[in-house]
Amino acid sequence: MSAISLPKLSAITSSPVGAEVLSGLTAHPKTLSPWLFYDEAGSRLFEAITELPEYYVTRTERSILTKHADEIIAAAAGGRDLSMIELGAGTATKTGLLLEAAIRLQGSVTYYPIDVSETALQEARTRLEVQLPEVTVEPVVADYTDGMRQNKGASGFGAGRRLVLYIGSSIGNFSPADALDVLRSVRSQLLPGDCLLLGTDMVKDTPLLLAAYDDAAGVTAEFNKNVLVRMNRELGANFNPQLFRHRARWNEEHSRIEMHLESLLAQRVPIGALDLEVRFALGETIHTENSYKFTDQRVLALLTRAGFKLRRQWSDANSWFTVYLASAN
Ligand code: TRP
Repeated sequence: MSAISLPKLSAITSSPVGAEVLSGLTAHPKTLSPWLFYDEAGSRLFEAITELPEYYVTRTERSILTKHADEIIAAAAGGRDLSMIELGAGTATKTGLLLEAAIRLQGSVTYYPIDVSETALQEARTRLEVQLPEVTVEPVVADYTDGMRQNKGASGFGAGRRLVLYIGSSIGNFSPADALDVLRSVRSQLLPGDCLLLGTDMVKDTPLLLAAYDDAAGVTAEFNKNVLVRMNRELGANFNPQLFRHRARWNEEHSRIEMHLESLLAQRVPIGALDLEVRFALGETIHTENSYKFTDQRVLALLTRAGFKLRRQWSDANSWFTVYLASAN
């Protein structure tokens, strides 16, 4: 190694992407963190996933929210003025249903979308200000556990009762221990009586689950392989995406869908910026994501341990997805 490459290497390994790739691809088994998916291309592919015929999740949750928005909002408000906070709001496409219900109930509402993507929040704000002028949008650009802490004190997310939206089964992308930590940290920012609306995808027939994470058009495969493309671009890696295969697996023991990238042959892949060569055996995988699937019992246990009391719940006719309203103890 030449002397001048040293500062470059330390700079890249201390960048979040470089550090994550270095630790993930030198681990056994190999893993990469799901946040690496969400560069610009990845965010676009994710939006496309939510519209796939096999990906029932978004559409099923939306149908539940459409049907029960007024009930949900009335139960959360309990006769007081309600403000809404959304964790990982993205472009907030499903939130309009609940904001409209809040407008029907109280005439206006303040909405605090929290997301790491500033462009997604800008889009949400612009769209909502045009479509729903009764909504005051106060975006918070942050990781959502930090985001909730940041705003405490200043505005405290409004003077009345707060409703935290945590929908899309995003909680299912955390391990059970991390999911509990996230909910506890949300709880710590709330006052007794404030509410949490949690959407979770439920355990169901395995073929239905697998299809949702391995669609016929190959969009989820492209989304998964986008991490390889990203490493090539940002770290000077030399992954050939055609030499990896997208895999979705149901892990019964942990009640989760796993996404992997499986090496189709024994190969060595250089990652220039990390001065690293990664070896893959035939069939070896990089584990890129988990999506836990829930039962009522598990959600109830999680909410209770995090300091919430379950108040109401709503499902679709097939019980594929459930939306839970809980209040802070
Ligand atoms: N949380 C949702 C889910 O697990 C959305 C999601 C996150 C997703 N990462 C994904 C969907 C990867 C498909 C593929 O379903």
